[in-house]
Order: sequence, then structure tokens, then C-alpha cells
Amino acid sequence: MTDDFRHLRLDRDGRGVATVSFDVQGSPVNIFNDEVVRELQEVVGRLERQPPRVVVFRSGKPSGFLAGADLRRIQQIQTEEEVRGVLAAGHELFDRIERLPCPTVAVIHGPCLGGGLEFALACRYRLARDDAQTRIGLPEVQLGLIPGWGGTQRLPRVVGLRQALRMILEGTTLSAAKAAAVGLVDLAVPTAEFETEVNRFVDDRLAGKSARRPTRGLVGVMLDGTWPGRAIVLATARKQIRSRAHHYPALPAAVRAIEAGYRGSRAAGFAAERDEFARIVFTPAARNLIEVFFQRERARKRSTWVPDEMARPQPVQRAAVVGAGTMGAGIAQLLAFNGIPVFLKDVSDEIVAGGMKRIESLTGEAVGKGLLSPDEAAAIVRRVAPVGADWGPLAGADLAIEAVVEREDVKREVFRQLGDQLSPSAVLASNTSALSVSRLGDTTPHPERVAGLHFFNPVHRMQLVEVVRGRATDDGPVAVLVDLVRRVGKVPVVVADSPGFLVNRLLFPYMDEAVRLVIEGVPGEEVDREAVRFGMPMGPLELLDQVGVDIAADVTGTFAPLRTDPGPTPERFAAMVRAGWCGKKSGRGFYEYRNGRRGKPTHWATPSTPRSVRPSRADVSGGLTDIQQRLIYPIINEAAKCLEAGVVAEPWVVDLAMVLGTGFAPFRGGPLRTADALGVGRVVRHLEALRRDHGDRFEPSPLLRTMGSEGRGFYTAAPAAVEHEEVHR
Ligand code: NAI
Repeated sequence: MTDDFRHLRLDRDGRGVATVSFDVQGSPVNIFNDEVVRELQEVVGRLERQPPRVVVFRSGKPSGFLAGADLRRIQQIQTEEEVRGVLAAGHELFDRIERLPCPTVAVIHGPCLGGGLEFALACRYRLARDDAQTRIGLPEVQLGLIPGWGGTQRLPRVVGLRQALRMILEGTTLSAAKAAAVGLVDLAVPTAEFETEVNRFVDDRLAGKSARRPTRGLVGVMLDGTWPGRAIVLATARKQIRSRAHHYPALPAAVRAIEAGYRGSRAAGFAAERDEFARIVFTPAARNLIEVFFQRERARKRSTWVPDEMARPQPVQRAAVVGAGTMGAGIAQLLAFNGIPVFLKDVSDEIVAGGMKRIESLTGEAVGKGLLSPDEAAAIVRRVAPVGADWGPLAGADLAIEAVVEREDVKREVFRQLGDQLSPSAVLASNTSALSVSRLGDTTPHPERVAGLHFFNPVHRMQLVEVVRGRATDDGPVAVLVDLVRRVGKVPVVVADSPGFLVNRLLFPYMDEAVRLVIEGVPGEEVDREAVRFGMPMGPLELLDQVGVDIAADVTGTFAPLRTDPGPTPERFAAMVRAGWCGKKSGRGFYEYRNGRRGKPTHWATPSTPRSVRPSRADVSGGLTDIQQRLIYPIINEAAKCLEAGVVAEPWVVDLAMVLGTGFAPFRGGPLRTADALGVGRVVRHLEALRRDHGDRFEPSPLLRTMGSEGRGFYTAAPAAVEHEEVHR
């Protein structure tokens, strides 16, 4: 017997098993939208009226179980009353599922996230398919939210307080195996035996057997199961989030909701969850983080970057990576990890062997983290074919990525070879940080097939890749590269060929200003602290140490054409390099490093006559401190110049690239959202004041001036111009 809805299906078999399958129409993954919730209410009503012996909830889509609630819906919510309605509907529905008189089983494969896991938590049992696609968790805090459909109440009951806090406050997801180990799922089963095991589990429930749950051990019971234990755990959690709580209000809100669930009645816990959710959903942090999420989705669509009518590009079959250093090895590993066979070439067999070692160790780390089996890891390494001095073997590749040393003469020679050796239809890409892609293209017979493909370091961790369109680059190769970036799980942004492309071009004035501040007499630690307070993952001087002061010194030359006044920074970098203080890799730079850990600031970051620049005096109405203005306004100004020069077409690209490429204060939504929040007019006034005090490099860009005088923001339509036309119509 089958009841067919639009998104759900209810099948009952002769044994008394009811199977509810989700296949949400018009969406590649299952999500909870208003219609799906209504259908589930109807299905649950039927199960209540005619209870089966066992209910199985599963997905009808290969892509996964349930990826969560529809974020568009959350973004559209305008009033607190509306939020409360949506939350209460979820609470009530999942309560009814929990109260069904028969065993309920959630059968999970692929993503089971957010509202999807909250739903599964309302079931009595959870089974998960144990493969790389299955990810289970409550990532709401990454969107500035907290779980709002019972997650803060049910998860601690299932996995214990400590594990629940970890999962909710970090928003991390678990593999099936890990979920089984912490008791979040009752069974994790390899793909091959999954259906058999699911059937066996259901048969056992029909036979009335009870399933065993893992026990938590004495420490677990003491900490999670007693009041004093829980008080310690909660206090520790509050301490851990203290420094981030101001920027990420969802973190303390989640702790309060979880705590309320232990303090009061069950109903009070759920009510606290609704209150806390309603309190944070309208915060700028939530709005901005959700916006970044959608920007990322937008960037991953090929039609965002190349005309829709472009034929579907041929996926890359075989790639060649030239240069087996830090970046080359990282890129080759990433491609092989994602199933693409790669040639890895360097100048000699010995150097390539070093690159292969790096690939093995990166893959080994993934095994250590339980992301890969040893067999899968070995297969990945086998997918990389080492190539020494000879160019011949590369002829079979349809894509080459060049990652040799950052020297134009060396790269030009590599491109000349690639142009000769590879098929005329192959795409040739450079991972250069700042050299002109157009000039590299000129050395090949087909400059229209040459582009930049700028990965960030470390390749396996950084999500962003800049696809750089040279003067001559066609749409076809851009489409191929955008597809490739998606295929390896990264986020592409397409930018024009300009010194430093987008991200490094914006970062440079920021790091330059940090060095100038130190030279003026502000202690380096104070400069970095102000940047971190603003929301950067680390300060600019520490970042310089990580990048390498020698690399920064090389790059200053590239940016020279963009700078009105080079200032003292290049000389400072040169002096540090001469003295061998190149940053983290040499154990010392602006800071000392021991065993890879940052220590005290060195004399390069310690002015002999310290001068404080009123560090903590924030501009009235919640603006930036003086030091923050010095650091952040140059980023905003340079971003406006990039928009003017057509390096990127739209503001959102700047914001997404800076958040993903540099960790720019995600809760602020990027530099241009920050400008809008401050008010562009105010930014212009402050830049003018900085120009008077510190020089022409602070001259506001023409675009900022125009926007400021028209009272416009980067994300707000142009009211002045539109109103003007309407008046005259
Ligand atoms: P690296 O110094 O670790 O590796 C460069 C490799 O290129 C060396 O193994 C060298 O033997 C090889 N090589 C030199 N000439 C060659 C030739 N003619 N044919 C084949 N191989 C040759 O350098 P790294 O850090 O991997 O940088 C490579 C490129 O990536 C550079 O253009 C750099 O600007 C860019 N990049 C570097 C980032 C970083 O953080 N390290 C970040 C983003 C881009």
C-alpha cells in the first residue's frame, strides 16, 4: 500500500513496516521547506491513526538523507512571530514522531545535517552508511544560528553533554564510524552490507528485540550525568567561547539553550531553544554568515562566470602538474584525491621523489583522521605518476598546472614547453601568485587557452581558488577550470589579470600598513591584537611570518605599479631577509617560533620608542579603533579600486574571496559588507582624515567618493539615480 505525496512517499508492507521516503522535488538534496513539513505532518497523522509495527524514514535520493532546513526560508523571515511559528511547528512535529507507539528508525546516507539530524534525533534508532559521503552534524553555528528544532535538547541526551557541546559549538560533522563510536547512531555499516544490515535491524525490531547502546564509562557518567559534573563542563565551555562570544552571539546562545534543558522541565528547555534562536536569527552575524553561504553556492555555479550557452565543458581526464614543491605537490594530491590521474613533473627524479613523499604524508594524515582507508590512500598515491627531466610523458594531459618557482623567466620557459608538448586543445594554467597570466600566455601558440589557477596554501585546507582570466583567455578554458575547482570540492572565483589578482592585491596594503605602524612606534603585538579583535583569524604581522618575509619582499616589487608611495616597508623586508629573519620557516621573523608555535615578538616588532595610537578608542557608534581603521580601510579602498578596474564584476565576489581566502571576519560578511555597515560616506570621511595625517595612499577611490556622496552602499541599490529618473517621468 502506497501513499504518494509530492515530496514524500509512505509504503506499508505485509510485515507491518511503514517506510517513509523523502525525495524533495526541485532540489538536488533533500531539505525541509514549508511543503515538506506539511507533508510530513500529514504522514505522521496517518501513522498515528494507523500505527505500523516499525517505521523507517529514509531518503529516496542518492545524494543523501536530509541536508537541513531551507536557508532561503530562514533568510526571508522578517518577524519574531514568524520565527517562533516555524520553530514551534518543528518542535511539535518531531515530538509527535518521538511519541509514535512503535520503533522508529532513521536510515542515513550522505549528509544528515542541521534540521535533518534534529529529525533523526527524534527517531528511536539511527543507522548510517559508512562511507566518505556520510556526514552527520549540527553546523548551525557556522551560519550564526543555533539548532532550532530540538537539537540543543535531544543531542545532549543521546551523546552526552560534552560531546554535544563540542558538536554544536564547533559545528563540525562526524563520519558514520565516529557517529557510532559516540553513540549518535546505533550502527555504522559499510556500503556493501548496508541494505542487508538495515533489513536485519528492522527484523530484530519486529521481533521485539532491544538494541544495545554504548556505555559512557565512569568519567563520562561523572561529568555528563551529575549536576556538579555538568556545572564544570558548562563552565569550561563558556570559558572556551568567551573570546569569540561577542562576534558570534550564537555560541553563548547555544550554551544557554543547552543548559536550560538540564535546569528546567523538558518544555522549558525547548522554549529556551526557541527564545535563543529568535534572539540571534536577526543579528548581523547570522545575516552575514548566511549571505556568505549563498555567495559560496553562487560561486560554484558555472553560469555565474561564463555565458549560459557555453557547451558543457569536457571534464579533465588527465592533468599534469609542473613543479613538485609545496604547492605543486599539494595540488597534485588534491587532484588525485578527487579521482583525477596526474603527472607530477619537476627538474629531476630526486626532486619529484620529494614531492611524492609530501603527497604520501598528506594522504597519510587523511588516513590518520579516519577520512580514508589505507587502501584508498594507496590508490590515491598510485594515481600520481612522477616525471623527471623529460617533457614527453606530459603529451597525454588535457590540463597542465604550472607551479614552479615564482620567476617569470622560468615560468615562460615552462609555458613554451607546455605549448609545444601538449595538444592544442589542452588548457594551460599557472599557479602564479602575482605574475601576469597574459604575458605567460604570449609564450604559447594558443594564448586563448592559458589562464591562472591560483590555489592558496595549504591547498588541502583552503577553500578558495582564483581562476584568472588573461587578456586573451577564452570562455572555454575558464569553464573547464571552474568545473575542475568544483569537482575537487573548492570554491572558484573568476578574476581579471591584475597584480596579485584579487586576494593578494587586497591583502598587501593591509600588511604594508601593519609594518608602517610598527615603524611609527606601535608595538607589533598591539597591531596584531587589534586585527584579531576586529575578527581576523590572526594579525597581519603573524600572517607575514607565515607567508614568509622573503616571499613578501619579492611580492612588493609586483605591487609597485599600484602604489603611490612605496614607504619604508620594502626596505624593512629587505633588511629582515638579509639578516635571515624570514618568518616562521626560519624560526624567527616578527615573532619567535619554537616547534612551530608562536613565541614572543622580536625586535622587528618592538619599536625602540613605543608610541600608542589610542588603540582601544573606538569611533562613536560602534566603528573601528584608530589602528583598525589604518589596517582595514586600505582593504576596502583597494577593493573599490578592483571593482572600478573590472578585476571583479560585483561586490559579493570580493567579500566571498576575502572570507574564504584570508578568513576576513566572516561574521562581518567581508570588507564591502563592512563598508556598508559602517556607511560608505563615513569610510570616505575617515580615509580623507587618514590621507591628511598619513599620506596620499589613503586617497579614497573615485567609486567610494561617488557612492559616499550619493548615500549608496555596495549592496544597496542606487536610490539617488533611480528616484531622479522617476521624478522626471
Ligand atoms: P617551491 O619552491 O616549494 O616549489 C617550486 C618547485 O618548482 C621546486 O620543486 C623546483 O624544483 C620546481 N621547478 C623550478 N623550475 C622548474 C622547471 N623549469 N620545471 C619544473 N619544475 C621546476 O614553491 P611553491 O611555494 O610551491 O610555489 C610555486 C608557485 O606557486 C609559485 O609561483 C608561487 O608564487 C605560487 N604560490 C605559492 C604559494 C605559497 O604559499 N607557497 C601560494 C600560492 C601560490
